[in-house]
Amino acid sequence: MAEYPFRSALVTGASSGIGEIMAGRLADAGVATTVVARRSERLDALADRHTGVEPLVADLATEAGQSVVAARIANGDVDLVVNNAGFGTNGDFHTLDPDRLADEIEVNVAALTRLSHAALAVMVPRGSGWLLNVSSVAGFQPAPQLAVYAATKAYVTSLTESLHEEAAPHGVHVTALCPGLTKTEFQRVSNADRYADQFPSFVWTSPDEVARCGLECVVANRTLAVPGTQYKLMVAATNITPRWLRRRASAIVQRG
Ligand SMILES: NC(=O)c1ccc[n+]([C@@H]2O[C@H](COP(=O)([O-])OP(=O)(O)OC[C@H]3O[C@@H](n4cnc5c(N)ncnc54)[C@H](OP(=O)(O)O)[C@@H]3O)[C@@H](O)[C@H]2O)c1
Repeated sequence: MAEYPFRSALVTGASSGIGEIMAGRLADAGVATTVVARRSERLDALADRHTGVEPLVADLATEAGQSVVAARIANGDVDLVVNNAGFGTNGDFHTLDPDRLADEIEVNVAALTRLSHAALAVMVPRGSGWLLNVSSVAGFQPAPQLAVYAATKAYVTSLTESLHEEAAPHGVHVTALCPGLTKTEFQRVSNADRYADQFPSFVWTSPDEVARCGLECVVANRTLAVPGTQYKLMVAATNITPRWLRRRASAIVQRG
């Protein structure tokens, strides 16, 4: 069983996928964990399976939902905050529902920013704390067909890198977790089911590997956590590839 330096944690998007596994790992390690999502029955089932799990039902696309979770963090007894809730919308930008895109920006960007602020407002004066923001390798280049999603994740990575530098002198660890393709409900929710047939098995990482990597990297105070050798190589290649070529390659991959 893993051992962590945190006594308490709050994980958003814990009703499925990466967040659910991360919350389970934390609870099994004896970390009291508040789990946030909209589907209360999923959160209750998680609390039944693991001791020390406390459900907090909130819709992070809403002002009210963000306020409830920010207030929970402001209580001051949360050591680790994981901003994991997020989703994408696959398709040609001009054909997509603008209200859904607005919700996507609200959850991926606005809620994450507000909860990061709530976390650091407590952690920096305290001189300790851990903040893990879940981004994506999609944030390292534009992604035609997932344009808004890639833009939100570019924001998450940039924000988190800045916060890492600001918080480090205060003893607070801030890390961006940047997974590649991971089999969760994300593909169904994001209208990207075709990815399962389109991409070979070696490109897929498991949610277990992603959750473990994220927690280990925030403990180690890494700025960026990229799970999987294939994605570490991809990110290294991206860093030395001209911008136009990254964009074209991304468009070809997305078209399938
Ligand atoms: N899977 C991938 O290939 C992949 C790759 C890179 C990055 N990521 C990122 O990893 C994170 C976790 O995704 P996942 O793959 O685990 O997907 P997932 O299985 O679909 O889980 C997404 C979680 O976000 C929550 N969520 C979505 N909208 C919400 C809202 N309005 N309010 C509160 N919670 C909300 C969902 O809970 P409810 O529906 O119950 O509210 C769910 O618990 C996301 O930020 C995603 O962008 C995923």
